[in-house]
Amino acid sequence: MCGIVGCVLKDDDAAPVLLDSISKLEYRGYDSIGIATATGNTINLKKGAGKIAEVDAELDLADLPGNCGIAHVRWATHGDPSEINSHPHLDENNAIAVVHNGIIENYLAIKEELEKEGHEFKSDTDTEVIPHLLEKFVDEGCDLELALRKTIDIIHGAYAIAAISIKEPNKVVATRKDSPLIVGVGEKEYFVASDFPAILKYTNNIIYLEEGEIVTLTGDGITIKDSEDNILDKEVDVIDWSPEMAQKEGYDHFMIKEIHEQDIAIKNTLAEREIVKKIVDEIKDDINRVAFVACGTSYHASLTGKYLIETLAGIPTEVLLASEFKYSQKSLNDKTLVIFITQSGETADTLKALDVANETSKTLAIVNVAGSSATRKAQYVIQTQAGPEIGVAATKTYVSQLASIYLFAALLADNKELLEKLDKVPDYINEVLENEDKIKDISRKYRFARDFFYIGRGYSYPIALEGALKLKEITYIHGEGYAAGELKHGPIALIDDGIPVVAILPPGDDHKKTMSNLEEVQARGADVLGIGSYGDEDLITKAQDTFLINSEVDDIIAPLVYIVPLQILSYYVAVARDLDPDKPKNLAKCVTVE
Ligand code: AGP
Repeated sequence: MCGIVGCVLKDDDAAPVLLDSISKLEYRGYDSIGIATATGNTINLKKGAGKIAEVDAELDLADLPGNCGIAHVRWATHGDPSEINSHPHLDENNAIAVVHNGIIENYLAIKEELEKEGHEFKSDTDTEVIPHLLEKFVDEGCDLELALRKTIDIIHGAYAIAAISIKEPNKVVATRKDSPLIVGVGEKEYFVASDFPAILKYTNNIIYLEEGEIVTLTGDGITIKDSEDNILDKEVDVIDWSPEMAQKEGYDHFMIKEIHEQDIAIKNTLAEREIVKKIVDEIKDDINRVAFVACGTSYHASLTGKYLIETLAGIPTEVLLASEFKYSQKSLNDKTLVIFITQSGETADTLKALDVANETSKTLAIVNVAGSSATRKAQYVIQTQAGPEIGVAATKTYVSQLASIYLFAALLADNKELLEKLDKVPDYINEVLENEDKIKDISRKYRFARDFFYIGRGYSYPIALEGALKLKEITYIHGEGYAAGELKHGPIALIDDGIPVVAILPPGDDHKKTMSNLEEVQARGADVLGIGSYGDEDLITKAQDTFLINSEVDDIIAPLVYIVPLQILSYYVAVARDLDPDKPKNLAKCVTVE
């Protein structure tokens, strides 16, 4: 949901570095791009609507003078994606430039006031009030830093802001509230950025900026002040992600690279067993109920968590959509463990719910991004070890979330058998990946389908939901996941000749029942793709197409493995439809607005 970068370089021009860094954040927004630098008497600005490569081909974005600047990729919230609405935004005198991620809730009232004072606005964005407020305070005699402090006293909402001014040409000032912003401390370069991948090439030294703190970057270094204007001596963390982890390394897209990294992501996540055990030991005697809270793919991981914790540990468990949490949180108490699943750790809906749950209950966050807001708000944290995920559609972070949930549930229930099974999951995933071409072939057949259905029972039901979400997100084909037994209660009316139905059929007690549902849809003309196990002759004979998986993968661990062919199917259908699976339309990697 928009990406921002700001930097000051000791020796070099900032624009090429800003272009390189902001390109690493394109997964956060790709409807427009802009860069501004400050020199002497001028703000040098280039911006336009479209993907970075398109706008760069037209404007040569790196060709701007000056060793300090800011950059932005946009996911539109206020105002359509156009040049005028793209960031950076300027004040009236073209002396101050601002980039912003988030939403200024009271911008209309501020705009009205400023217009009365004679300010003229060019764009439809909420952001544009910020450079005008900065201008007003600078005109009153403030330096840029103080002007920013006064501005954040006025604006309400979520924001990460970076600003430059021609009056202080070697400086970037920045702040945040409810939107991510990290500070990067290189040897000859200093950064602010929405996420790590932007700066990994230049430094691994990170400072996490807290809400209300203001950071000032200059050629001499970094100063961070709290809301009382005290200079802070903040800890520098070294993150162990490498720049290569955020590159395609020969793959056509990040999505397929990340699908191929799922074995190692699970292995690394399962290696966190001691940390998970410590948390389980601390809380297990003190909880009688669990509630998962999450959005999207993370919600699907949570559904699997419900089946696991209720079945294995016998603890009543519910799953709530984060955006609906406030309507149903009333029964939480100090015996409830509320588990927040979020790969980014910055999803606004999830963070709002986390704040509320912290008041009454124990909170645990399962998060992929170290230092993200969820890791700092939750009482307990499990970090998944997927590494940076750049593709907008979650793949390796999803299976890593599942791995953490399985580990947590197995330790809570002291289920040694499940722990042993989990260790074999990376090998099962590798076997699936070896047969990638089979799915690629099948995908050609379905690339013009208009609707897809996915069905599964028990542990396979969340797989069906996640398979359908992946399809919708990157192929724009309508897909619905259903509990296999529910289909006949209504949705079966939609089944018609040739409609693809993906049936998820791992070995287990309910296999026969789902086979009956498969036959019901076939009888109405559906074209069934069965995802089952080697030796499943019933499925092999009946389904039009099959993809087979190691028969040791039973229904309980199926969510970790059976999702992989479904991710690959969506990927190749998207490619066959000539779509970019890494940057699906209308989506952003991290949704920082409610
Ligand atoms: C996943 O493919 C989606 N882009 C989306 O549903 C995502 O899972 C959701 O927005 C939650 O994000 P989070 O895990 O970062 O909180």
